[in-house]
Amino acid sequence: MPAKTVAARSSLKTRNKRGLATSKTLQTRRSTSPSEASGSESDFDEPKQTKRRKLGNDAKPNVGALSKELFGPADGDFKPRTCTFPGRAHSLSYHRPLLLDALKGREYRDALLKWFDSISTKRGMPWRKPWLGSMPDAEAVDRRKAYEKRAYEVWISEIMLQQTRVAVVIDYWNNWMAKWPTIQDLAAADADDVLAAWRGLGYYSRATRIHEAAKVVVSDKGMDGLLPKRARDLESKIPGVGRYTAGAISSIVFGQAEPMVDGNVLRVLSRQLGLLADVKTTKAVIDLLWTAADTLVKAVARDGASDDEDTSKTIPESERPGKWGQALMELGSTVCTPKPNCGECPISASCKAFAEGQSLAVKSTVKTESSIGDMEDMCTICEPFDDSMLAEAEAVMDGSNGSKKPAASVKKAKSSGQAKLTAFAFTKTSDKKAAEPEPQAPETTSSNATARAVEHAKLFPLKVVKKAVRQEETLVCAIRRSNGQYLIERRPEKGLLAGLWEFPSRLLTEKDDASASARKSMARDWVEKLAKAEGLDLSCLTYRGELGNVPWLFSHIKLTMHVYLFDLEDTAEGESCSTERRRWTGNVEAESMGTGMRKCWTLVREAEA
Ligand code: ADE
Repeated sequence: MPAKTVAARSSLKTRNKRGLATSKTLQTRRSTSPSEASGSESDFDEPKQTKRRKLGNDAKPNVGALSKELFGPADGDFKPRTCTFPGRAHSLSYHRPLLLDALKGREYRDALLKWFDSISTKRGMPWRKPWLGSMPDAEAVDRRKAYEKRAYEVWISEIMLQQTRVAVVIDYWNNWMAKWPTIQDLAAADADDVLAAWRGLGYYSRATRIHEAAKVVVSDKGMDGLLPKRARDLESKIPGVGRYTAGAISSIVFGQAEPMVDGNVLRVLSRQLGLLADVKTTKAVIDLLWTAADTLVKAVARDGASDDEDTSKTIPESERPGKWGQALMELGSTVCTPKPNCGECPISASCKAFAEGQSLAVKSTVKTESSIGDMEDMCTICEPFDDSMLAEAEAVMDGSNGSKKPAASVKKAKSSGQAKLTAFAFTKTSDKKAAEPEPQAPETTSSNATARAVEHAKLFPLKVVKKAVRQEETLVCAIRRSNGQYLIERRPEKGLLAGLWEFPSRLLTEKDDASASARKSMARDWVEKLAKAEGLDLSCLTYRGELGNVPWLFSHIKLTMHVYLFDLEDTAEGESCSTERRRWTGNVEAESMGTGMRKCWTLVREAEA
């Protein structure tokens, strides 16, 4: 039988005075961001506490001190700082978000909310509904039941959205809600049905965890079917709910001023704050952006309070936090994408990455060093700016491939960078002389400036080299009985494709010879071993051949599944086997299998025909 291939989807460390360790290696730049490679719009996998990168004690940043400086109340004489090129030298206080600006912050925040109101129904997300807190009492026949249902709906949507694009999730969510309209229905569901409803969404352990969590919420006397309102309770009491999901449920459903930060929001905030840092794996940076998001959502909630309310201790519940969080996420997934559309952005006026890019569109923008402020205040969170990035961006602007002579500002760039503090020690001029640079005459049109700003914004956040993808090979053995049944096995309850069914499969180890002939004999040995374990008559077993291979890509594994077919000519009937994790099935189609294994099944079915 000819084998075929099925097309498948397939340092240097320095420390600043606040104790923040920063990596000075440049090799983290220039790679495809995982979001570009994955199908997920959310570009986000909620990190488990244990998976967060551990910094040694000595490297622990004092995020509290940093937060106060960046997000605390502005002191009277605070002036927005600038950033100078080449080198992108700037002070730490440069990163104070303009969204929190004492004078214009409210206007910027309102602009994002207004934008969200104008687009929030465009993508037809069925779980986006008016906030229950503003429901008139007369309509709230059973307020508690309404909250139970809304919290359940939002929870399921958020978990689904963590791996998949909105357009795909809509169908899954509708089917799910039609099947299990309430959390009580889900708690009573069959585990295999839950897995089947998740089929195609990937990361199957999430379905299992949602199911487990529903049982907890329904059986717990205190909760009695209602998810907790506070983010900290959601995180601590509900299996599978992490910081992100807790913030989403708490803010969207219960109107609490809690942040929700996914990969898209990290990108938006890194641009807003002008943070050229790794927002994917550097815990200190991630924590800082969460703090920014927390401060922002609280400011937005306070914006909605009436004049006589004292919001210093109690922040009022409202629809504002949920709208704000979703607005940031929506902005990140539709406008402030890896290749942003800054011309459409409602908050480009407060975006530092955008402003930097615009200033670069104006020639001779090198500013006097005094605008950076005290050397003590130099930012060490940002990675040093690699000035070759300027040349690349300008080459894009010129429509050349980078071979063109670089622009003047780039020629000057050579090796200055955020890391080179000594340069400033010797060139610093008097603070009195130039607190802010002289305005420069623009030598470019505004659309050119926006295009230049887009190129610059693309550099944020710092790109991280993706973890190497592991190559694995597995022998997938389909054993077909005379009565048309196939032998299937259940995967372990933890790990990749947890709890799903598959044809008996044997993973090749490094020691195995992976040549076609060696694979064939390993597949035969494997099946014979299985047959013996099941007390089957080996003389009834016939090897039919290798049907082909299915390449399959997980986030960290590139798997090749080699598919083999065996016939078992016996007269036995029935499903049971020596273990509960193995059985015969006459309906492979209906089994909970991963999408890759289904591709293997396609090969088997074609061979049957
Ligand atoms: N991505 C994930 N959850 C979202 C939400 N609630 N709104 C917009 N985008 C999202």
